[in-house]
Amino acid sequence: ARKIIIDTDPGIDDAMAIFLALQSPEVEVIGLTTIYGNVYTSLATRNALHLLEVAGRTDIPVAEGSHVTITKGTKLRIASFVHGADGLGNQNFLPPSGKPIELSAAAFMIEQANQYPGEVTVVALGPLTNVALAIEEDPAFAEKIGQIVLLGGAFLVNGNVNPAAEANIFGDPEAADIVFTSGADVVAVGLNVTHQVVLTELDRAKLEQSNGKFAQYLSKILDVYFAYHQESYLMKGVYLHDPTAILAAIDPSLMTFMEGVVRVQTSGITRGLTILYNRQKRFGEYTEWTDKPTSKVAVTVDAPAVVKLVMDRLMES
Ligand code: BDR
Ligand code: CA
Repeated sequence: ARKIIIDTDPGIDDAMAIFLALQSPEVEVIGLTTIYGNVYTSLATRNALHLLEVAGRTDIPVAEGSHVTITKGTKLRIASFVHGADGLGNQNFLPPSGKPIELSAAAFMIEQANQYPGEVTVVALGPLTNVALAIEEDPAFAEKIGQIVLLGGAFLVNGNVNPAAEANIFGDPEAADIVFTSGADVVAVGLNVTHQVVLTELDRAKLEQSNGKFAQYLSKILDVYFAYHQESYLMKGVYLHDPTAILAAIDPSLMTFMEGVVRVQTSGITRGLTILYNRQKRFGEYTEWTDKPTSKVAVTVDAPAVVKLVMDRLMES
């Protein structure tokens, strides 16, 4: 099984993604690392510990990540209006009894990449501060990490924070640009793909009726997420962002990808915009676009297959 570290801001779709990964024999979750986004970092850490307790997987370490953006200067945008004040659908869960490990998220990523060079995949489901810190703290990290699969960006479609930016990229655009230009093997799954992957009310009813512990837990916390989609998009369904990113790491044949240089806008009203440049014959004078390593960006997805895999695995006990 492929070793994965999930960098996460749980988060309702993060919770689904973590459970999906734990239910997937193709991957071995070797750690969770936490980041602000849907909630502040300290709550993300509590939620990560809590979700592992729900899953009965307290053997998996949790490393706490950065509390601030990479430039330290950006005001955090916390999406409690999407996931609830507690990040997990306002269910008043008891605090976890576990504690995070001593290492920071970035230090843990570096340690694991050193221990298993080329074998570790980081699946990043929140703003990219921790991954960018690992790249900055260890110049060899980009080469030693096997792959970075990230949920982020909105390639040629509107964002979900504003017309330009998707939330995880908007959370720390400078960090995202560091990741995309690092030379690591980067795979991006953005809103252009995840806005096609919808869990319906019928699916949620199936989760509710299932005896599986993950399905039972999720059917409760999903209420808040459904209400947000109804209000925000007039939709009777929810987007499966983070679970789709997990599946990109597990079975890339569920999607197709375009390869090119990705840059992130860091200023102005389009701050957080992601741009993919896939021309093979490049305009030599634009070195900020041409002299950079490429990433792979998901462009199509077999949405029914993704939803089915997510449902099947989450309903298993
Ligand atoms: C991303 O932002 C967060 O709200 C979700 O958990 C997902 O990672 C979608 O833009
Ligand atoms: Ca997330």
